[in-house]
Amino acid sequence: MQKPIRRIAICTGGGDAPGLNAVIRATVTAAANRGWECMGIRDGFSGILQPERYPQGGVHLLTRDRVRGISHLGGTIIGTTNKGNPFHYPVPQSDGSVLDTDRSGEILAYFEREGIDALVSVGGDGSLTIANELHRKGLRVVGVPKTIDNDLDKTYTTFGFDTAVSFATECLDRLHSTAESHQRIMVVEVMGRYAGWIALHAGIAGGAHAILIPEIAYDLDKVVAKIAEREKEGRAYTLVVVAEGAVPKEGARALVAPSEIGHAERLGGVGEQVGHALAERTGKDTRVVVLGHLLRGGSPTAFDRLAALRFGTAAVRALDEGLSGVMVALAFPNVNYVTLEEVAGRMKAVPLDSDTLQTGRDLGVCFGD
Ligand code: F6P
Repeated sequence: MQKPIRRIAICTGGGDAPGLNAVIRATVTAAANRGWECMGIRDGFSGILQPERYPQGGVHLLTRDRVRGISHLGGTIIGTTNKGNPFHYPVPQSDGSVLDTDRSGEILAYFEREGIDALVSVGGDGSLTIANELHRKGLRVVGVPKTIDNDLDKTYTTFGFDTAVSFATECLDRLHSTAESHQRIMVVEVMGRYAGWIALHAGIAGGAHAILIPEIAYDLDKVVAKIAEREKEGRAYTLVVVAEGAVPKEGARALVAPSEIGHAERLGGVGEQVGHALAERTGKDTRVVVLGHLLRGGSPTAFDRLAALRFGTAAVRALDEGLSGVMVALAFPNVNYVTLEEVAGRMKAVPLDSDTLQTGRDLGVCFGD
């Protein structure tokens, strides 16, 4: 028989995404309505593992008042980090090296000591893999799927994705007119490490002429041919959307920094590479726009806000029903639960037979293949 829940904690990990605050508000409110307290852990698990960084305390009680009126706000009121995996915690040594340390036991000990009965972990693949490991070690955990990249498996969508796609689409709408006025090639780099969901959805909705995604190794000859075809038809401008993780047929992913202990590799620069090569090969005036972190900021769309509120309340319902080791998922149009085991370490790439990809092909979009 499981101990009844009196107090839970919530943490947000990985890159932020519009809708995090709505999840926090939903979780805290649904918990309070059951007479439970909800604690907010600062910056992933840093509030527990690095208490010295927080003179006011690394873990706080989140009251209803604290979360009132925050659903529409971007970011996360409890902070986040994409460094500091408790199972692979980087501990600097006196000789300058860094030791890969497992500090997960400290998390469990903290929960025990503070009488926290369960964790709601809001994050992407990295955070949910950590959540699954904590569950395996005996913690009661429910995950909530977050990432603007939409690359989490077993959920129709993650919250944050719709906001990122909507913003990128608006940017493309704006870039059409300036590209056409100047008869330029405009290359727009968007986030999307290993999956091209943002590039694909925004590119098609925003009328891009070429879309390069990590799932399809691109051949620039094909993009050059598309530009030439447009020129012949009297359309002297071209919009190219490229996901940061897009890979040339012969070449490698554009890296800013390699992975380190507890921290994934940093991507970036493919937009410049593609822009430079297209300018050289076509002789056309070319400009590159990197949307980057703009896609992660701002107010969540109504879709993301609602998804986040549904996810947060469903996470509390899951705990109330005695579930653990599950992630709340959108099985459109309903919310359901899948095991963290099914999600951890898996990535949802754009399927090559996807209807959206096919839509692009039928509309004449070049995918670099
Ligand atoms: O949230 C995922 C993501 O947006 C990736 O697309 C991107 O590579 C990464 O975050 C960048 O994160 P940061 O610059 O915060 O390390």
